[in-house]
Parts: sequence; structure tokens; C-alpha cells
Amino acid sequence: MTLPGYPRQRPRRLRSTPALRRLAAETSLEPRHLVLPMFVVDGIDEPQPIASMPGVHQHTRDSLRRAAEQAVGAGVGGLMLFGVPRETDKDALGSCGVDPDGILNVALRDLAKDLGDDTVLMADTCLDEFTDHGHCGVLDARGRVDNEATNAQYVKLAVAQAESGARVVGPSGMMDGQVAAIRDGLDAAGFTDVLILAYAAKFASAFYGPFRDAVASSLQGDRRTYQQDSGNAREALREITLDIDEGADIIMVKPAMAYLDIVRAAADVSPVPVAAYQVSGEYAMISAAAANGWIDGRAAALESLTSIRRAGADIVLTYWAADVAGWLA
Ligand code: PBG
Repeated sequence: MTLPGYPRQRPRRLRSTPALRRLAAETSLEPRHLVLPMFVVDGIDEPQPIASMPGVHQHTRDSLRRAAEQAVGAGVGGLMLFGVPRETDKDALGSCGVDPDGILNVALRDLAKDLGDDTVLMADTCLDEFTDHGHCGVLDARGRVDNEATNAQYVKLAVAQAESGARVVGPSGMMDGQVAAIRDGLDAAGFTDVLILAYAAKFASAFYGPFRDAVASSLQGDRRTYQQDSGNAREALREITLDIDEGADIIMVKPAMAYLDIVRAAADVSPVPVAAYQVSGEYAMISAAAANGWIDGRAAALESLTSIRRAGADIVLTYWAADVAGWLA
């Protein structure tokens, strides 16, 4: 490919003052683009730091309310809630996720009451935090994740979350047909204005490691029969197309930084907003390098988030959401 030369332009002219760089910036990063994932844990008295995610906590109901209020006050675009039950409440079906008194549903009601429509309240609609085997679905007699039984359970989970005040449900288990099942279930229960943020292209990733600490995951083995192989771009686009056809209001690619080509491809074709999830391992890597003094953590965080926006994400889930809102203020 030969590009025509533009010898008269001198690109550096556009970079010569901060005001010119600001005027000509192609990509913006604003707090409203960012969603803060948060963890609420049943049965703890004090918030617990997560060792592999410095600065991120497992919250009590009270500390969650304070942190949520602070993040929303700082201007983040939304909150994504994950619930961690007591070990003794986990079972094969993940029943405590559906239980209105389960920790996630209780915390959703707290935040819905505190914040109302001042934020966009989202819930992770998945079973892995709640099952004693740690898989994202219901197992059949041979121990394999049963697609239809899982979808039936996801519908109950989504309806319980909507009843508890979630404005957006986020099915993240990668079952076939999960979006259609949940849309039908929400509509039948009268929640026609609850949105579905579909984890449409979710890869089986080593970058979820710290998250599994954060939710005290019971998983033995891996999620490769439902999450995608990292090399598959065409398959990712098929997953995205299916989810849009099934009624996804927002589609998501996850993780973000190792999959920016997928974010770009999704942004080029999607008729609905595209989100990307900068996952726990991405946060941990930059935080660890910064803690060693090897990189400037704040600059690296902002650069990584800008790259995700540049790749085409409208919305970015990031554990830095509230920090970034403060840094940009
Ligand atoms: C599954 C879920 C996972 C994450 C979000 N939702 C973990 C997994 O698939 O193993 C990972 C998020 C992160 O790593 O930050 N409910």
C-alpha cells in the first residue's frame, strides 16, 4: 500500500501546544464512559482488601453503600455488582443468587434505594459466585454444564435482580440462547425496561485470576466448554451477532486489552453500544508494575483505558473507574 505524501502538513504542528492537542484529540475518556465493578460479601464485618487487586475491596453492605455513593458522586457512568455468598450457602444450583435475601439481591436493594436513577445499577447475572462447584451453570448427571437447565436458572436470577432494583442485567456465562431466554423472562415478569448487557464475546482467559480470589471461587478445572478460545475472532463476531439478534441492548467483549481487535470489529458492525471489560488481571498487572516503581501506574491506567476507547468501546468496565473520575476532575 502506498499512501500519498502530504509534505506540507507537518504533523507536529498539531501537537505544538496542550490546547492544540486537546482540540485535535480523536479519543475522549470521561468518567461517564466508565462502569465500576464492585464486590459485596456476605458475613464479613469489615471490608477486606483483595491482595491481587491493590485498592479494590470486598465490601460489607455498609462499605458498599459508601463506596457506591462516592463513585457515583465522582461521576462514574454505572456500577456493576458481584455478590459473594457464605461458603455454606453455596449449592449445586446457585440458589442463593435467586433468593431475594441473597447477598447480591439485598445489596441491589440497598443501592437502588440510596441512588435510584442517579446511576445505572447493573448486576452480574451468572451462577459461578453461588455454586458449590464454581461453574457458571447447572451441571448434568455427568458433570457437564447443561445449557437449558442453566438458562432456566439465569432467567430466575435475572428476574430476582430486576425485582431487587437492577436496571441492567449482565449475563456472563456464555450459554447459547441466554439472552433470548432472559429477555423473554424479563418481559413476562413485566420488566420490559430492564436492559441486557450481554457478555457476548467472553474468552477463557488467564486474566481472570485475581477475580477468582475476589469472589472466593470454588472452581476446579476451567470454563473452556462455554468461554471462547482466545484465537477465535470469527467466532466472537458470530457470538455478538447472535446476542444482538436475541435482544442484547449492549454487547460486551472481555477481557479488553488482549482483545482490542475484537472490540474494533464489534464496534464496526454493532447497532447497539459496545462495552469492554478491563478485567482483574489487567488491573493487577499495571498495579503490580507500578507498585514496583517500574511504570507510572496512573499514566499506564489512563493509556490502557484510552486504547480501549480508541478501539471502539463506548463503555468500559474498569476497577479504576472511580479513581479515573477523580484524576480527570
Ligand atoms: C463470571 C465472571 C468472571 C468475571 C466477571 N464475571 C470470571 C470468570 O469468568 O471466570 C471476571 C472479571 C475479572 O476478571 O475482572 N461470573
